[in-house]
Amino acid sequence: MGTYDRELIATARAMVAPGKGLLAMDESNGTCAKRFEKLGIPVTIERRRTYRELIIGTPNLADYISGAILYDETIRQSSQAGVPLVKMLEAAGMIPGIKLDLGAKDLPGCPGEKVTEGLDGLRERIAEYYQMGARFAKWRAVIAIDASIPSDTCLIVNAHALARYAALCQEGGLVPIVEPEVLIDGDHSIERCYEVTDRTLQVVFAQLRLNRVELDKMILKPSMVLSGESCSEQASVDLVAQMTVRCLRDNVPTSVPGIAFLSGGQSNERATAHLNAIHTQYGSECPWAVTFSYARAIQQPALDHWHGDDANIPEAQRRLYQRAKLNAAASMGQYMP
Ligand code: 13P
Repeated sequence: MGTYDRELIATARAMVAPGKGLLAMDESNGTCAKRFEKLGIPVTIERRRTYRELIIGTPNLADYISGAILYDETIRQSSQAGVPLVKMLEAAGMIPGIKLDLGAKDLPGCPGEKVTEGLDGLRERIAEYYQMGARFAKWRAVIAIDASIPSDTCLIVNAHALARYAALCQEGGLVPIVEPEVLIDGDHSIERCYEVTDRTLQVVFAQLRLNRVELDKMILKPSMVLSGESCSEQASVDLVAQMTVRCLRDNVPTSVPGIAFLSGGQSNERATAHLNAIHTQYGSECPWAVTFSYARAIQQPALDHWHGDDANIPEAQRRLYQRAKLNAAASMGQYMP
């Protein structure tokens, strides 16, 4: 038994508790800047803090959200009233999580492909974040699809990094969210997405085993099996649910307690409808808890409404709560569009 075994199992279960999902609010400053700039919101540390406080301060958000993934800047910040944002989360009944990867960088020798960095010094960073109250973590690998990619190089180096990260998290008391995102960008068919996701998950679980990651103390955050964003033929909601569940069943051991999907650029409504169909049509085939860990598909209506203007905060919070509620309903197969 490792030092944190009981705690890790309890945390993983709480993260995917029935009727709840995770809120990803760990956009790096670069990603956050892109989203703010689109709306003309000043890209400042103060606006980011206000926005993150808006999210965490949404009344009763814990009805539907088990935990929130924070970015390094946010986990160190306090509200306008001087309360650390981590304490606000805990007081509201949500588990604080932390993004540990340092972003996807160009993979040498592999044009168009990326490798996620952040392993150096990770043990020490995990210890610091645990002290600050984090109880789970996230690391995102990105896999792009094109006629000739992904390469085995890309799949293997990314899976290896995910597994090294996950093993260090378990040693240090954080439940690792293992996130291999197969990107929606491109005109590929859903069959091609299936093939790439299948291969990605095979390589990821091989590396997790090789690095002695305990599968009952982690959460998988996969992308759904989708038609490429610019593919002329878009798969139906039912086909997405069917192929996603088949791919997961073929690759994810039943010892994994939970799967929490990313939204990956799907529209809000599609991300919710797909999760709902997975439960209504194929729920009996899923041995794991299956829920959401969305960023854009939960936050976007709130961000659009807030628009950087604090007079809009209450309505923005209402919209955030509504998206969380609809996704929580979908996680139980009870979403009604
Ligand atoms: P999206 O739901 O916007 O894809 O974000 C999830 C996430 O955490 C990406 O790493």
